[in-house]
Amino acid sequence: MRSHYCGSVDASHIDQIVTFCGWVHRRRDHGGVIFVDLRDHTGLVQLVFDPDRSEIFTLAERIRNEFVLQVTGKVRNRPEGTVNPDMPTGEIEVLAQELTVLNTAETPPFQLDDDTVGEDIRLKYRYVDLRRPEMQQKLRLRARVTQSLRRYLDDHGFVDTETPMLTKATPEGARDYIVPSRTYPGSFFALPQSPQLFKQLLMMGGLDRYYQIVRCFRDEDLRADRQPEFTQLDIETSFLDEDAILDSMEAMMVQLFKEVKGIEIPRPFQRMPYTEAIERFGSDKPDLRIPLELVSLTDVMASVEFKVFSGPAKDPKGRIAALRLPKGNELTRKEIDDYTSFVARYGAKGLAYVKCNEIARGRDGLQSPILKFLPDEVITAILQRTGAEDGDLIFFGADKATVVNDALGALRVRLGLDRGLVEGDWRFLWVVNFPMFEWDEREKRWQALHHPFTAPSVGDAKALLDKPGEALSRAYDMVLNGTELGGGSIRIHTQGIQRAVFEILGIGEDEAQEKFGFLLEALRYGAPPHGGIAFGLDRLVMLLTGATSIRDVMAFPKTQTASCLLTNAPAEVSPQQLRELSIQIRKQKKTD
Ligand code: AMO
Ligand code: AMP
Repeated sequence: MRSHYCGSVDASHIDQIVTFCGWVHRRRDHGGVIFVDLRDHTGLVQLVFDPDRSEIFTLAERIRNEFVLQVTGKVRNRPEGTVNPDMPTGEIEVLAQELTVLNTAETPPFQLDDDTVGEDIRLKYRYVDLRRPEMQQKLRLRARVTQSLRRYLDDHGFVDTETPMLTKATPEGARDYIVPSRTYPGSFFALPQSPQLFKQLLMMGGLDRYYQIVRCFRDEDLRADRQPEFTQLDIETSFLDEDAILDSMEAMMVQLFKEVKGIEIPRPFQRMPYTEAIERFGSDKPDLRIPLELVSLTDVMASVEFKVFSGPAKDPKGRIAALRLPKGNELTRKEIDDYTSFVARYGAKGLAYVKCNEIARGRDGLQSPILKFLPDEVITAILQRTGAEDGDLIFFGADKATVVNDALGALRVRLGLDRGLVEGDWRFLWVVNFPMFEWDEREKRWQALHHPFTAPSVGDAKALLDKPGEALSRAYDMVLNGTELGGGSIRIHTQGIQRAVFEILGIGEDEAQEKFGFLLEALRYGAPPHGGIAFGLDRLVMLLTGATSIRDVMAFPKTQTASCLLTNAPAEVSPQQLRELSIQIRKQKKTD
Protein backbone atom coordinates (compact mmCIF):
# COMPACT_ATOMS: atom_id res chain seq x y z
CA MET A 1 0.00 0.00 0.00
CA ARG A 2 2.96 2.35 0.32
CA SER A 3 6.29 3.01 -1.37
CA HIS A 4 7.96 4.91 1.48
CA TYR A 5 7.71 5.57 5.19
CA CYS A 6 6.82 9.14 6.14
CA GLY A 7 10.10 9.91 7.88
CA SER A 8 12.29 8.39 5.17
CA VAL A 9 11.87 10.92 2.39
CA ASP A 10 14.29 13.81 1.90
CA ALA A 11 15.84 16.04 -0.76
CA SER A 12 17.27 13.01 -2.52
CA HIS A 13 13.72 12.05 -3.51
CA ILE A 14 12.84 15.33 -5.28
CA ASP A 15 10.48 14.81 -8.23
CA GLN A 16 9.79 11.19 -7.30
CA ILE A 17 6.23 9.93 -7.01
CA VAL A 18 5.77 8.37 -3.57
CA THR A 19 2.94 6.75 -1.62
CA PHE A 20 2.58 6.94 2.17
CA CYS A 21 0.17 5.42 4.66
CA GLY A 22 -0.27 6.98 8.05
CA TRP A 23 -2.19 9.08 10.54
CA VAL A 24 -3.04 12.77 10.28
CA HIS A 25 -0.88 14.46 12.88
CA ARG A 26 -2.30 17.91 12.15
CA ARG A 27 -4.03 19.79 9.38
CA ARG A 28 -3.66 23.48 8.62
CA ASP A 29 -5.60 25.56 6.12
CA HIS A 30 -3.46 28.32 4.65
CA GLY A 31 -5.26 30.66 2.34
CA GLY A 32 -6.66 28.07 0.03
CA VAL A 33 -3.90 25.52 0.43
CA ILE A 34 -4.23 22.67 2.93
CA PHE A 35 -1.19 21.29 4.71
CA VAL A 36 -1.29 17.93 6.43
CA ASP A 37 1.49 16.43 8.52
CA LEU A 38 1.20 12.71 8.02
CA ARG A 39 2.70 10.43 10.65
CA ASP A 40 3.88 6.87 10.89
CA HIS A 41 6.39 5.30 13.27
CA THR A 42 9.31 6.81 11.34
CA GLY A 43 8.21 10.43 11.63
CA LEU A 44 6.23 13.15 9.91
CA VAL A 45 6.01 14.35 6.33
CA GLN A 46 4.27 17.49 5.08
CA LEU A 47 1.61 16.94 2.41
CA VAL A 48 0.23 19.81 0.35
CA PHE A 49 -3.29 19.79 -1.11
CA ASP A 50 -3.76 22.30 -3.87
CA PRO A 51 -7.25 23.64 -4.67
CA ASP A 52 -6.50 23.07 -8.37
CA ARG A 53 -7.06 19.37 -7.77
CA SER A 54 -10.58 19.97 -6.56
CA GLU A 55 -11.57 16.34 -6.09
CA ILE A 56 -8.95 15.46 -3.52
CA PHE A 57 -8.96 19.02 -2.14
CA THR A 58 -12.62 18.68 -1.10
CA LEU A 59 -11.79 15.36 0.51
CA ALA A 60 -8.78 16.93 2.27
CA GLU A 61 -11.05 19.63 3.71
CA ARG A 62 -12.92 16.93 5.61
CA ILE A 63 -9.96 15.13 7.14
CA ARG A 64 -9.28 15.50 10.85
CA ASN A 65 -6.55 14.52 13.29
CA GLU A 66 -5.86 10.76 13.44
CA PHE A 67 -7.69 9.94 10.22
CA VAL A 68 -5.85 7.14 8.44
CA LEU A 69 -4.77 8.08 4.93
CA GLN A 70 -3.10 6.66 1.89
CA VAL A 71 -1.59 9.47 -0.15
CA THR A 72 0.36 9.51 -3.40
CA GLY A 73 2.20 12.61 -4.54
CA LYS A 74 5.32 14.21 -5.89
CA VAL A 75 8.24 15.19 -3.68
CA ARG A 76 9.35 18.81 -4.07
CA ASN A 77 11.51 21.34 -2.28
CA ARG A 78 9.75 23.53 0.23
CA PRO A 79 9.62 27.15 -0.88
CA GLU A 80 12.39 29.44 0.38
CA GLY A 81 11.78 30.49 3.98
CA THR A 82 9.47 27.60 4.86
CA VAL A 83 12.16 24.98 5.44
CA ASN A 84 11.76 23.44 8.90
CA PRO A 85 15.17 22.52 10.32
CA ASP A 86 13.53 20.76 13.30
CA MET A 87 12.00 18.08 11.07
CA PRO A 88 14.15 15.42 9.40
CA THR A 89 11.87 15.80 6.37
CA GLY A 90 11.78 19.58 6.83
CA GLU A 91 13.40 20.43 3.51
CA ILE A 92 10.74 18.79 1.39
CA GLU A 93 7.00 18.46 1.01
CA VAL A 94 4.80 16.23 -1.08
CA LEU A 95 2.23 17.65 -3.47
CA ALA A 96 -0.70 15.27 -3.19
CA GLN A 97 -2.10 13.71 -6.34
CA GLU A 98 -4.21 10.91 -4.88
CA LEU A 99 -5.88 10.58 -1.51
CA THR A 100 -7.72 7.64 0.01
CA VAL A 101 -9.23 8.00 3.45
CA LEU A 102 -8.62 4.50 4.82
CA ASN A 103 -10.45 5.31 8.02
CA THR A 104 -11.93 8.23 9.88
CA ALA A 105 -11.29 8.92 13.56
CA GLU A 106 -13.28 10.56 16.28
CA THR A 107 -11.61 13.47 18.02
CA PRO A 108 -8.78 11.74 19.90
CA PRO A 109 -8.98 11.76 23.70
CA PHE A 110 -5.76 13.78 23.83
CA GLN A 111 -3.34 15.54 21.53
CA LEU A 112 -0.38 13.34 20.82
CA ASP A 113 2.15 16.09 21.41
CA ASP A 114 0.57 17.27 24.65
CA ASP A 115 3.05 16.32 27.39
CA THR A 116 0.68 17.23 30.20
CA VAL A 117 -1.84 14.43 29.61
CA GLY A 118 -2.49 12.35 32.74
CA GLU A 119 -1.26 8.78 32.78
CA ASP A 120 -4.75 7.38 33.39
CA ILE A 121 -5.99 8.74 30.07
CA ARG A 122 -2.88 7.48 28.31
CA LEU A 123 -3.41 4.00 29.75
CA LYS A 124 -7.11 3.93 28.91
CA TYR A 125 -6.40 4.87 25.31
CA ARG A 126 -3.05 3.10 25.15
CA TYR A 127 -3.39 2.40 21.41
CA VAL A 128 -3.45 6.15 20.79
CA ASP A 129 -0.66 6.74 23.29
CA LEU A 130 1.51 4.14 21.57
CA ARG A 131 1.44 6.25 18.39
CA ARG A 132 3.58 8.87 20.16
CA PRO A 133 7.19 8.82 18.98
CA GLU A 134 8.56 8.34 22.53
CA MET A 135 6.48 5.22 23.02
CA GLN A 136 7.48 3.90 19.62
CA GLN A 137 11.14 4.44 20.42
CA LYS A 138 10.86 2.73 23.79
CA LEU A 139 9.09 -0.37 22.52
CA ARG A 140 11.41 -0.67 19.54
CA LEU A 141 14.45 -0.33 21.77
CA ARG A 142 13.00 -2.99 24.04
CA ALA A 143 12.77 -5.36 21.07
CA ARG A 144 16.42 -4.66 20.23
CA VAL A 145 17.38 -5.35 23.85
CA THR A 146 15.71 -8.77 23.87
CA GLN A 147 17.29 -9.58 20.50
CA SER A 148 20.75 -8.70 21.71
CA LEU A 149 20.34 -10.69 24.93
CA ARG A 150 19.01 -13.70 23.06
CA ARG A 151 21.88 -13.52 20.59
CA TYR A 152 24.46 -13.51 23.37
CA LEU A 153 22.82 -16.38 25.21
CA ASP A 154 22.28 -18.46 22.08
CA ASP A 155 25.94 -17.94 21.16
CA HIS A 156 27.00 -19.17 24.59
CA GLY A 157 25.09 -22.42 24.72
CA PHE A 158 22.03 -21.31 26.71
CA VAL A 159 18.86 -23.20 25.80
CA ASP A 160 15.64 -21.18 25.64
CA THR A 161 13.14 -23.31 27.58
CA GLU A 162 9.59 -22.55 28.65
CA THR A 163 8.29 -23.33 32.12
CA PRO A 164 4.67 -23.56 33.33
CA MET A 165 2.48 -20.57 34.08
CA LEU A 166 -0.11 -22.63 35.93
CA THR A 167 1.97 -23.97 38.76
CA LYS A 168 2.60 -24.09 42.48
CA ALA A 169 3.60 -21.18 44.69
CA THR A 170 7.29 -20.16 44.55
CA PRO A 171 8.58 -18.27 47.55
CA GLU A 172 9.98 -14.99 46.24
CA GLY A 173 8.46 -13.02 49.07
CA ALA A 174 5.34 -11.57 47.47
CA ARG A 175 1.71 -12.68 47.51
CA ASP A 176 0.67 -15.11 44.79
CA TYR A 177 -1.85 -14.61 42.05
CA ILE A 178 -3.93 -17.75 42.17
CA VAL A 179 -6.11 -19.45 39.58
CA PRO A 180 -8.93 -21.76 40.63
CA SER A 181 -9.02 -25.24 39.16
CA ARG A 182 -12.35 -26.37 37.72
CA THR A 183 -11.42 -30.03 37.73
CA TYR A 184 -10.25 -29.99 41.36
CA PRO A 185 -12.82 -27.93 43.24
CA GLY A 186 -11.23 -25.95 46.05
CA SER A 187 -7.72 -26.32 44.61
CA PHE A 188 -5.73 -23.56 43.01
CA PHE A 189 -2.79 -23.02 40.74
CA ALA A 190 -0.43 -20.16 41.52
CA LEU A 191 1.03 -18.03 38.75
CA PRO A 192 4.82 -18.11 39.07
CA GLN A 193 6.57 -15.34 41.00
CA SER A 194 9.58 -16.60 39.05
CA PRO A 195 10.53 -19.90 37.40
CA GLN A 196 13.02 -20.49 40.23
CA LEU A 197 12.31 -24.13 41.01
CA PHE A 198 11.72 -25.14 37.42
CA LYS A 199 15.02 -23.73 36.28
CA GLN A 200 16.75 -25.66 39.05
CA LEU A 201 14.95 -28.80 37.92
CA LEU A 202 16.12 -28.11 34.37
CA MET A 203 19.70 -28.21 35.64
CA MET A 204 18.93 -31.50 37.34
CA GLY A 205 17.54 -32.54 33.98
CA GLY A 206 20.90 -31.96 32.33
CA LEU A 207 20.03 -28.83 30.26
CA ASP A 208 23.37 -27.36 31.42
CA ARG A 209 22.49 -23.76 30.53
CA TYR A 210 18.98 -22.37 30.44
CA TYR A 211 17.45 -19.02 29.71
CA GLN A 212 13.95 -17.68 29.25
CA ILE A 213 12.39 -14.29 28.76
CA VAL A 214 9.49 -14.95 31.01
CA ARG A 215 6.53 -13.27 32.63
CA CYS A 216 6.44 -13.32 36.45
CA PHE A 217 3.51 -12.44 38.68
CA ARG A 218 3.69 -10.88 42.12
CA ASP A 219 0.89 -9.40 44.11
CA GLU A 220 2.81 -6.74 46.02
CA ASP A 221 2.76 -3.01 46.69
CA LEU A 222 3.55 -1.33 43.41
CA ARG A 223 6.01 1.44 42.71
CA ALA A 224 7.58 3.09 39.69
CA ASP A 225 9.84 0.08 39.21
CA ARG A 226 7.38 -2.65 40.19
CA GLN A 227 4.46 -4.14 38.31
CA PRO A 228 2.25 -7.09 39.27
CA GLU A 229 3.15 -8.72 35.99
CA PHE A 230 6.69 -8.12 34.78
CA THR A 231 9.34 -9.77 32.64
CA GLN A 232 12.52 -11.46 33.74
CA LEU A 233 15.48 -12.55 31.74
CA ASP A 234 15.89 -15.75 33.70
CA ILE A 235 19.12 -17.74 33.59
CA GLU A 236 20.51 -20.89 35.18
CA THR A 237 23.79 -22.76 34.67
CA SER A 238 25.41 -25.98 35.87
CA PHE A 239 29.02 -26.51 36.95
CA LEU A 240 29.86 -22.80 37.02
CA ASP A 241 30.98 -20.94 40.14
CA GLU A 242 30.17 -17.34 41.07
CA ASP A 243 33.13 -15.90 39.19
CA ALA A 244 32.24 -17.68 35.97
CA ILE A 245 28.57 -16.65 36.17
CA LEU A 246 29.32 -13.02 37.02
CA ASP A 247 31.89 -12.89 34.26
CA SER A 248 29.47 -14.19 31.65
CA MET A 249 26.69 -11.84 32.76
CA GLU A 250 29.05 -8.86 32.58
CA ALA A 251 30.03 -9.82 29.06
CA MET A 252 26.35 -10.03 28.13
CA MET A 253 25.65 -6.54 29.51
CA VAL A 254 28.72 -5.08 27.84
CA GLN A 255 27.64 -6.54 24.50
CA LEU A 256 24.10 -5.24 25.03
CA PHE A 257 25.23 -1.69 25.76
CA LYS A 258 27.51 -1.74 22.76
CA GLU A 259 24.87 -3.07 20.39
CA VAL A 260 21.96 -1.01 21.62
CA LYS A 261 23.57 2.23 22.79
CA GLY A 262 26.98 2.16 21.14
CA ILE A 263 28.52 2.55 24.59
CA GLU A 264 31.67 0.79 25.78
CA ILE A 265 31.20 -0.29 29.43
CA PRO A 266 34.47 -1.10 31.22
CA ARG A 267 34.98 -4.53 32.81
CA PRO A 268 35.22 -6.05 35.32
CA PHE A 269 32.32 -4.48 37.19
CA GLN A 270 33.10 -3.33 40.70
CA ARG A 271 32.15 -5.78 43.49
CA MET A 272 31.15 -4.63 46.93
CA PRO A 273 30.23 -6.63 50.02
CA TYR A 274 26.71 -6.02 51.28
CA THR A 275 27.89 -4.68 54.65
CA GLU A 276 30.14 -2.14 52.96
CA ALA A 277 27.30 -0.97 50.71
CA ILE A 278 25.05 -0.44 53.72
CA GLU A 279 27.78 1.21 55.78
CA ARG A 280 28.91 3.64 53.09
CA PHE A 281 25.71 4.25 51.14
CA GLY A 282 22.88 3.15 53.41
CA SER A 283 21.59 0.92 50.63
CA ASP A 284 22.15 -2.52 49.12
CA LYS A 285 21.74 -0.94 45.68
CA PRO A 286 23.88 2.17 45.87
CA ASP A 287 23.99 4.65 43.03
CA LEU A 288 27.74 5.04 42.65
CA ARG A 289 27.37 8.00 40.30
CA ILE A 290 26.79 10.12 43.39
CA PRO A 291 30.02 10.96 45.25
CA LEU A 292 28.51 11.31 48.72
CA GLU A 293 29.02 8.81 51.53
CA LEU A 294 27.70 8.07 54.97
CA VAL A 295 30.28 8.21 57.76
CA SER A 296 29.71 6.37 61.03
CA LEU A 297 29.93 8.30 64.30
CA THR A 298 28.17 5.83 66.59
CA ASP A 299 31.29 5.13 68.67
CA VAL A 300 31.96 8.76 69.62
CA MET A 301 28.40 9.69 70.58
CA ALA A 302 27.67 7.43 73.57
CA SER A 303 28.80 9.99 76.12
CA VAL A 304 27.37 13.19 74.64
CA GLU A 305 24.64 15.05 76.49
CA PHE A 306 22.45 15.28 73.43
CA LYS A 307 19.93 12.45 73.94
CA VAL A 308 19.06 12.35 70.24
CA PHE A 309 22.61 11.07 69.64
CA SER A 310 23.51 9.26 72.87
CA GLY A 311 20.31 7.16 72.83
CA PRO A 312 20.96 5.40 69.51
CA ALA A 313 24.71 5.26 70.32
CA LYS A 314 23.94 3.07 73.33
CA ASP A 315 21.39 0.94 71.48
CA PRO A 316 23.10 -2.11 69.92
CA LYS A 317 20.79 -1.71 66.92
CA GLY A 318 21.37 2.05 66.71
CA ARG A 319 23.52 4.08 64.39
CA ILE A 320 24.65 7.67 64.11
CA ALA A 321 25.95 8.67 60.73
CA ALA A 322 26.96 11.87 59.01
CA LEU A 323 26.59 12.86 55.38
CA ARG A 324 28.81 15.68 54.18
CA LEU A 325 27.50 17.85 51.38
CA PRO A 326 30.30 19.82 49.71
CA LYS A 327 29.34 23.52 49.36
CA GLY A 328 26.20 22.75 51.33
CA ASN A 329 26.63 25.93 53.37
CA GLU A 330 24.53 27.78 50.86
CA LEU A 331 21.42 25.70 51.63
CA THR A 332 18.64 27.90 52.93
CA ARG A 333 16.57 27.24 56.03
CA LYS A 334 13.67 26.31 53.77
CA GLU A 335 15.76 23.82 51.81
CA ILE A 336 16.97 22.19 55.02
CA ASP A 337 13.36 21.99 56.24
CA ASP A 338 12.38 20.34 52.96
CA TYR A 339 15.13 17.75 53.36
CA THR A 340 13.98 17.19 56.94
CA SER A 341 10.47 16.41 55.69
CA PHE A 342 11.99 14.21 53.00
CA VAL A 343 13.87 12.02 55.48
CA ALA A 344 10.78 11.87 57.70
CA ARG A 345 9.21 9.71 54.98
CA TYR A 346 11.83 7.10 55.83
CA GLY A 347 11.08 7.29 59.52
CA ALA A 348 13.74 9.83 60.56
CA LYS A 349 12.68 11.96 63.52
CA GLY A 350 14.82 14.90 62.50
CA LEU A 351 17.80 15.99 60.47
CA ALA A 352 20.49 17.67 62.52
CA TYR A 353 23.15 19.60 60.61
CA VAL A 354 26.33 21.59 61.02
CA LYS A 355 27.38 24.31 58.61
CA CYS A 356 31.14 24.64 58.25
CA ASN A 357 31.91 28.30 57.70
CA GLU A 358 35.54 28.52 58.76
CA ILE A 359 36.91 25.34 60.24
CA ALA A 360 40.20 26.93 61.34
CA ARG A 361 38.25 28.99 63.89
CA GLY A 362 37.11 25.81 65.62
CA ARG A 363 33.69 25.85 67.22
CA ASP A 364 33.21 29.54 66.36
CA GLY A 365 33.60 28.79 62.68
CA LEU A 366 30.68 26.36 62.75
CA GLN A 367 26.98 27.01 62.81
CA SER A 368 24.40 24.55 64.11
CA PRO A 369 21.53 24.22 66.56
CA ILE A 370 23.19 21.17 68.13
CA LEU A 371 26.71 22.54 68.54
CA LYS A 372 26.17 23.38 72.18
CA PHE A 373 25.53 19.72 73.00
CA LEU A 374 28.75 18.43 71.50
CA PRO A 375 32.14 18.47 73.28
CA ASP A 376 35.25 19.53 71.38
CA GLU A 377 36.62 16.05 70.84
CA VAL A 378 33.33 14.97 69.23
CA ILE A 379 33.39 17.99 66.95
CA THR A 380 36.97 17.15 65.98
CA ALA A 381 35.97 13.55 65.22
CA ILE A 382 33.05 14.72 63.07
CA LEU A 383 35.22 17.10 61.06
CA GLN A 384 38.02 14.60 60.63
CA ARG A 385 35.92 11.60 59.68
CA THR A 386 33.81 13.50 57.21
CA GLY A 387 36.82 15.33 55.76
CA ALA A 388 34.85 18.56 56.05
CA GLU A 389 36.08 21.72 54.34
CA ASP A 390 35.02 25.33 54.60
CA GLY A 391 31.69 25.80 52.90
CA ASP A 392 30.42 22.29 53.53
CA LEU A 393 27.32 21.21 55.39
CA ILE A 394 27.12 18.00 57.40
CA PHE A 395 23.80 16.24 57.96
CA PHE A 396 23.26 13.74 60.77
CA GLY A 397 20.98 10.78 61.24
CA ALA A 398 20.56 9.09 64.61
CA ASP A 399 18.15 6.22 65.14
CA LYS A 400 17.88 2.48 64.62
CA ALA A 401 20.49 1.63 61.99
CA THR A 402 17.80 0.64 59.48
CA VAL A 403 16.11 4.04 59.79
CA VAL A 404 19.39 5.96 59.51
CA ASN A 405 20.47 3.90 56.49
CA ASP A 406 17.15 4.28 54.70
CA ALA A 407 16.87 7.99 55.45
CA LEU A 408 20.44 9.10 54.75
CA GLY A 409 20.72 6.62 51.86
CA ALA A 410 17.72 8.25 50.19
CA LEU A 411 18.90 11.76 51.12
CA ARG A 412 22.26 11.03 49.52
CA VAL A 413 20.58 10.26 46.19
CA ARG A 414 18.21 13.20 46.46
CA LEU A 415 21.08 15.62 47.21
CA GLY A 416 23.10 14.18 44.37
CA LEU A 417 20.28 14.84 41.91
CA ASP A 418 19.22 18.22 43.35
CA ARG A 419 22.76 19.56 43.46
CA GLY A 420 23.89 18.23 40.09
CA LEU A 421 26.55 15.98 41.60
CA VAL A 422 25.88 12.93 39.43
CA GLU A 423 29.13 11.74 37.83
CA GLY A 424 29.26 9.53 34.75
CA ASP A 425 26.44 7.80 32.93
CA TRP A 426 26.49 4.10 33.75
CA ARG A 427 27.83 2.66 36.99
CA PHE A 428 27.46 -1.09 37.24
CA LEU A 429 28.10 -2.81 40.52
CA TRP A 430 27.86 -6.31 41.93
CA VAL A 431 26.75 -6.48 45.54
CA VAL A 432 28.03 -9.71 47.08
CA ASN A 433 28.44 -11.47 50.44
CA PHE A 434 24.88 -10.97 51.59
CA PRO A 435 23.96 -12.43 54.94
CA MET A 436 22.10 -15.69 54.54
CA PHE A 437 19.35 -14.79 57.04
CA GLU A 438 17.84 -11.73 58.60
CA TRP A 439 16.20 -11.79 62.03
CA ASP A 440 12.58 -10.70 61.84
CA GLU A 441 11.97 -8.96 65.15
CA ARG A 442 8.21 -8.84 64.78
CA GLU A 443 7.72 -12.46 63.86
CA LYS A 444 10.68 -13.58 65.98
CA ARG A 445 12.15 -15.78 63.31
CA TRP A 446 14.82 -15.93 60.63
CA GLN A 447 13.97 -14.83 57.10
CA ALA A 448 15.97 -15.67 53.98
CA LEU A 449 17.51 -12.55 52.46
CA HIS A 450 17.22 -14.19 49.05
CA HIS A 451 14.99 -17.21 48.45
CA PRO A 452 15.51 -20.38 50.53
CA PHE A 453 17.34 -22.23 47.72
CA THR A 454 20.36 -19.96 47.89
CA ALA A 455 23.54 -21.74 48.99
CA PRO A 456 25.35 -20.58 52.13
CA SER A 457 29.06 -19.94 51.85
CA VAL A 458 29.70 -22.46 54.63
CA GLY A 459 29.60 -25.97 53.29
CA ASP A 460 28.23 -27.97 56.23
CA ALA A 461 24.78 -28.02 57.71
CA LYS A 462 26.00 -28.06 61.30
CA ALA A 463 27.95 -24.80 61.04
CA LEU A 464 24.88 -23.25 59.48
CA LEU A 465 22.48 -24.45 62.16
CA ASP A 466 24.86 -23.35 64.95
CA LYS A 467 25.11 -19.72 63.88
CA PRO A 468 22.56 -18.78 61.23
CA GLY A 469 23.12 -15.08 61.91
CA GLU A 470 26.74 -15.27 60.87
CA ALA A 471 26.31 -17.21 57.66
CA LEU A 472 26.89 -15.43 54.39
CA SER A 473 25.14 -16.55 51.25
CA ARG A 474 26.50 -17.15 47.78
CA ALA A 475 24.09 -14.59 46.35
CA TYR A 476 24.84 -11.60 44.14
CA ASP A 477 22.88 -8.63 42.85
CA MET A 478 23.66 -6.60 39.77
CA VAL A 479 23.02 -2.92 40.40
CA LEU A 480 23.00 -0.18 37.80
CA ASN A 481 22.79 3.49 38.80
CA GLY A 482 20.98 2.70 42.03
CA THR A 483 18.50 0.21 40.54
CA GLU A 484 18.62 -3.51 41.32
CA LEU A 485 18.71 -4.92 37.82
CA GLY A 486 19.03 -8.53 38.78
CA GLY A 487 19.76 -10.99 41.50
CA GLY A 488 20.83 -14.57 41.73
CA SER A 489 22.91 -17.09 43.55
CA ILE A 490 24.65 -20.41 43.61
CA ARG A 491 21.96 -22.86 44.75
CA ILE A 492 21.85 -25.57 47.31
CA HIS A 493 22.31 -28.87 45.50
CA THR A 494 22.40 -31.30 48.42
CA GLN A 495 19.51 -32.43 50.58
CA GLY A 496 21.27 -31.93 53.92
CA ILE A 497 21.88 -28.22 53.46
CA GLN A 498 18.44 -27.66 51.95
CA ARG A 499 16.82 -29.26 54.98
CA ALA A 500 18.98 -27.21 57.36
CA VAL A 501 17.93 -24.00 55.63
CA PHE A 502 14.26 -24.97 55.81
CA GLU A 503 14.73 -25.76 59.49
CA ILE A 504 16.30 -22.36 60.24
CA LEU A 505 13.48 -20.66 58.37
CA GLY A 506 10.95 -22.53 60.47
CA ILE A 507 9.67 -24.54 57.52
CA GLY A 508 8.85 -27.87 59.19
CA GLU A 509 9.28 -31.30 57.65
CA ASP A 510 5.62 -31.58 56.67
CA GLU A 511 5.42 -28.11 55.19
CA ALA A 512 8.67 -28.67 53.28
CA GLN A 513 7.28 -31.92 51.89
CA GLU A 514 3.99 -30.35 50.95
CA LYS A 515 5.46 -27.26 49.31
CA PHE A 516 8.79 -28.38 47.93
CA GLY A 517 8.70 -32.17 48.19
CA PHE A 518 9.42 -32.47 44.48
CA LEU A 519 12.59 -30.39 44.87
CA LEU A 520 13.83 -32.33 47.89
CA GLU A 521 13.21 -35.50 45.98
CA ALA A 522 15.02 -34.21 42.90
CA LEU A 523 18.04 -33.41 45.08
CA ARG A 524 18.27 -37.16 45.82
CA TYR A 525 18.73 -38.19 42.21
CA GLY A 526 21.99 -36.56 41.20
CA ALA A 527 21.60 -32.78 41.23
CA PRO A 528 24.61 -30.99 39.74
CA PRO A 529 26.09 -27.89 41.40
CA HIS A 530 24.22 -25.03 39.77
CA GLY A 531 23.46 -21.34 40.00
CA GLY A 532 21.94 -18.51 38.06
CA ILE A 533 20.39 -15.10 38.05
CA ALA A 534 17.29 -13.23 36.92
CA PHE A 535 17.24 -9.71 35.52
CA GLY A 536 14.26 -7.39 35.54
CA LEU A 537 13.94 -6.78 31.82
CA ASP A 538 11.52 -3.89 32.29
CA ARG A 539 13.93 -2.16 34.64
CA LEU A 540 16.81 -2.66 32.25
CA VAL A 541 14.84 -1.11 29.39
CA MET A 542 13.64 1.68 31.68
CA LEU A 543 17.25 2.66 32.40
CA LEU A 544 18.33 2.29 28.78
CA THR A 545 15.53 4.55 27.56
CA GLY A 546 15.78 7.08 30.38
CA ALA A 547 12.16 6.35 31.38
CA THR A 548 11.20 7.09 34.97
CA SER A 549 8.74 4.23 35.34
CA ILE A 550 8.69 0.68 34.01
CA ARG A 551 5.10 1.37 32.90
CA ASP A 552 6.58 3.49 30.12
CA VAL A 553 8.47 0.57 28.63
CA MET A 554 5.55 -1.89 28.73
CA ALA A 555 2.99 -1.85 25.95
CA PHE A 556 0.04 -2.53 28.26
CA PRO A 557 1.00 -1.95 31.89
CA LYS A 558 -1.23 -1.93 34.92
CA THR A 559 -1.87 1.03 37.18
CA GLN A 560 -0.33 1.56 40.61
CA THR A 561 -3.37 -0.19 42.01
CA ALA A 562 -2.90 -3.26 39.80
CA SER A 563 -5.74 -2.75 37.36
CA CYS A 564 -5.84 -2.41 33.59
CA LEU A 565 -7.63 0.78 32.55
CA LEU A 566 -7.81 -0.34 28.94
CA THR A 567 -9.69 -3.60 29.46
CA ASN A 568 -11.05 -2.86 32.94
CA ALA A 569 -9.47 -6.00 34.33
CA PRO A 570 -9.84 -7.38 36.91
CA ALA A 571 -13.57 -7.75 36.44
CA GLU A 572 -16.42 -9.76 37.83
CA VAL A 573 -17.21 -13.06 36.14
CA SER A 574 -20.56 -14.67 35.54
CA PRO A 575 -22.29 -16.69 38.29
CA GLN A 576 -22.15 -19.63 35.86
CA GLN A 577 -18.34 -19.45 35.71
CA LEU A 578 -18.13 -19.19 39.48
CA ARG A 579 -20.41 -22.20 39.89
CA GLU A 580 -18.21 -24.23 37.58
CA LEU A 581 -15.25 -23.33 39.75
CA SER A 582 -17.18 -24.11 42.92
CA ILE A 583 -16.57 -20.59 44.16
CA GLN A 584 -19.09 -18.67 46.20
CA ILE A 585 -18.72 -14.93 46.50
CA ARG A 586 -20.27 -13.46 49.58
CA LYS A 587 -20.90 -9.77 48.96
CA GLN A 588 -20.12 -7.83 52.11
CA LYS A 589 -23.04 -5.80 53.40
CA LYS A 590 -22.30 -2.20 54.20
CA THR A 591 -22.63 -1.80 57.95
CA ASP A 592 -22.85 2.00 58.11
P1 AMO B 1 14.28 -11.47 42.34
O1 AMO B 1 13.06 -11.64 43.14
O2 AMO B 1 15.39 -10.65 42.90
O3 AMO B 1 14.96 -12.88 42.00
O4 AMO B 1 13.88 -10.89 40.93
C1 AMO B 1 14.85 -10.68 39.91
C2 AMO B 1 14.69 -9.31 39.30
O5 AMO B 1 13.39 -9.10 38.81
C3 AMO B 1 13.03 -7.73 38.90
N1 AMO B 1 11.76 -7.60 39.63
C4 AMO B 1 10.72 -6.85 39.24
N2 AMO B 1 10.56 -6.02 38.20
C5 AMO B 1 9.38 -5.41 38.06
N3 AMO B 1 8.32 -5.56 38.89
C6 AMO B 1 8.43 -6.38 39.96
N4 AMO B 1 7.37 -6.53 40.78
C7 AMO B 1 9.68 -7.06 40.18
N5 AMO B 1 10.13 -7.92 41.12
C8 AMO B 1 11.38 -8.25 40.77
C9 AMO B 1 14.16 -7.03 39.61
C10 AMO B 1 14.89 -8.16 40.29
O6 AMO B 1 16.25 -7.88 40.45
N6 AMO B 1 14.32 -16.37 41.12
C11 AMO B 1 15.13 -15.25 41.57
C12 AMO B 1 16.35 -15.06 40.71
C13 AMO B 1 17.42 -16.07 40.92
O7 AMO B 1 17.76 -16.37 42.09
O8 AMO B 1 17.98 -16.54 39.90
C14 AMO B 1 14.30 -13.99 41.51
O9 AMO B 1 13.21 -13.93 40.99
O10 AMO B 1 14.99 -6.40 38.65
P1 AMP C 1 15.37 18.83 68.83
O1 AMP C 1 16.19 18.71 70.07
O2 AMP C 1 14.32 17.78 68.65
O3 AMP C 1 14.89 20.23 68.58
O4 AMP C 1 16.39 18.55 67.64
C1 AMP C 1 17.57 19.30 67.43
C2 AMP C 1 18.10 19.02 66.08
O5 AMP C 1 18.33 17.61 65.95
C3 AMP C 1 17.14 19.39 64.97
O6 AMP C 1 17.94 19.92 63.91
C4 AMP C 1 16.51 18.08 64.58
O7 AMP C 1 16.19 18.09 63.20
C5 AMP C 1 17.65 17.12 64.86
N1 AMP C 1 17.18 15.76 65.17
C6 AMP C 1 16.19 15.36 66.00
N2 AMP C 1 16.06 14.01 66.02
C7 AMP C 1 17.00 13.56 65.16
C8 AMP C 1 17.40 12.26 64.72
N3 AMP C 1 16.81 11.14 65.15
N4 AMP C 1 18.41 12.17 63.81
C9 AMP C 1 19.02 13.27 63.34
N5 AMP C 1 18.71 14.50 63.73
C10 AMP C 1 17.72 14.66 64.63
